[in-house]
Amino acid sequence: MYYPEEIVEEIRLKNDIVDVISGYVRLQRKGGSHFGLCPFHNEKSPSFSVSQNKQMYYCFGCGAGGNVYTFLMEYEHYTFPEAVRTLAERAGVDLPEAEYSEEMKRQESRRAQLLQINKEAAKYFYYLLRRPGGEQGMRYLQGRMLSAGTIGKFGLGYAGKYRDDLTKYLKGKGWRDELLQEAGLCTIDEKYGTHDKFWNRVMFPIQDINNRVIGFGGRVMGEGTPKYLNSPETPVFDKSRNLYGLNLARTSRAGNIILCEGYMDVIAMHQAGFGQAVASLGTAFTEGQAALIRRYSRDVLLAYDSDGAGVKAALRAIGILRAAGLTGRVISLEPYKDPDELVKNLGAEELQKRIDGAENSFFFELRVLERDFDLGDPEGKTRFQQEAAKKLCGFAEELERENYIEATAEKYRIGFEKLRKMVNTYAYTAGGASAGESAVRPKTGQQRKTSPEDGAKKTQRLLLTWLSEDAGLYRKVKRYLAPEDFTTDLYRQVARRLFADLETGSANPAAVISQFADEEQQREAAALFHTKLPLPGGDKREREKAFHDILVSVKTYAYEQDSRRMERDTDALNRVIRGKKALEELKQTHISLD
Ligand code: UTP
Ligand code: MN
Repeated sequence: MYYPEEIVEEIRLKNDIVDVISGYVRLQRKGGSHFGLCPFHNEKSPSFSVSQNKQMYYCFGCGAGGNVYTFLMEYEHYTFPEAVRTLAERAGVDLPEAEYSEEMKRQESRRAQLLQINKEAAKYFYYLLRRPGGEQGMRYLQGRMLSAGTIGKFGLGYAGKYRDDLTKYLKGKGWRDELLQEAGLCTIDEKYGTHDKFWNRVMFPIQDINNRVIGFGGRVMGEGTPKYLNSPETPVFDKSRNLYGLNLARTSRAGNIILCEGYMDVIAMHQAGFGQAVASLGTAFTEGQAALIRRYSRDVLLAYDSDGAGVKAALRAIGILRAAGLTGRVISLEPYKDPDELVKNLGAEELQKRIDGAENSFFFELRVLERDFDLGDPEGKTRFQQEAAKKLCGFAEELERENYIEATAEKYRIGFEKLRKMVNTYAYTAGGASAGESAVRPKTGQQRKTSPEDGAKKTQRLLLTWLSEDAGLYRKVKRYLAPEDFTTDLYRQVARRLFADLETGSANPAAVISQFADEEQQREAAALFHTKLPLPGGDKREREKAFHDILVSVKTYAYEQDSRRMERDTDALNRVIRGKKALEELKQTHISLD
């Protein structure tokens, strides 16, 4: 944490969340909450709620949520310290100088050094490309139809024929071997000593959103393996949380983001005028990258390769985008393999047409699914319809689901009522273990059953929400429950803090959230307090049963996890012994919700 927790808390308390958010979103009071149109995704009816009591916001449509700090971080793209400073000023609180621990200072200076090394390496490659010895690299890039302007804009470079060129150069500038190795630019080898990782390749510097060089991709000029060599992950290069080209795409006015597979695709697209193109970094698309995109646009177009591997990767990406509350559409590149080739052969105008005609990701998924079935055969047709109905259950919002049922029925000429009935049947039978929501958004595009882990996390969320809303309840169950019953780090930290708050007074979810400096963690923590509780206002006995079930299910899962670990871990063993006792007792106990 950069600022002392008390100050962060003081500032938060002095900035009422309804006041602050009202400056950005028109809010209307409805019951205990204020509602408005979510600023983080496109919607026509308000599902964005701000709670004065909890001092938190949450969108039931896209899952955005947090406290007043999170809001500024998401809306204004501020870092946590920036959000703290802004709100301090708004409330007239004097901020002390940010505090850094010794360890943080050390890490910061190491990171700064690695970034400096990367910058110097990028400059050197850039220089080599333009020098007489760099002709081969230049010819290669020109052969790929890149203009001088484009080559410059992306800072492309060349790693020469010698295997220690860069090492010599950087050592000459005073950098130690060990740091060069940590930067991923050199390998230390008993036989050859320190030598370059990249040589005889054209170089693509990879920049973060602040234009800092964090790593490299290097391509062979022509045939050869590996085609691309990439920097390893380093303290400054997190492949799952950066995207190639996003530093440029973030300022594009296109209103959407185009996600490609390759560096060359991004470059070709930018050159053709599509400045919103980005790509992942030689690894599969991740949740972290979806979260990053989400800061800039909710509308994502996939321009993945048209081959089998590309389709598979697209299906995965669609699931990840959907889980992050982003809409995905798929651009058809047929008959070409990738965007680079399409632009080269058919030009920018055609690509624009393909973008305008991009296919809704759900229908893309169905079209891929369809290939596995023989629709001419009644048996195959039935199975396809069943699979489609299952997928339709994934839409949690009723209106959206109905619209998709209607469109699917029409497209595949299934009777609307028939399809709707099939969907409803699945909604009741599939995954109905945890009460509350009947339909859950699937995590990936491919139909995957909720894993036991996802199910467990969901009941843990329900329990945390319930306890935060009913402070008296904690007293009744605390003897059975411990933070260790929550099985991921984040959940455990939240539980620890929430329980401590409940011990001394009332729950304070908004304060819990400021504990996390990372925006994604804040968002995830916020979601823990906003699960839809089963049967609100319903029959008391049913509610009590639901609560009891949730509690038993959380305890049981924790117990099973610990049992699996107890041979290696004495803490787990102790928890197993206690957990077994607590569970037995709990099963006999009635917990009243009065
Ligand atoms: P592709 O094989 O589709 O390459 O890999 P490409 O982008 O079309 O490249 P060109 O047009 O042949 O030059 C897509 C991405 O996968 C990663 C790279 O990030 C590449 O841009 N990749 C591919 C590797 O990391 N290593 C490889 O050997 C191949
Ligand atoms: Mn290509």
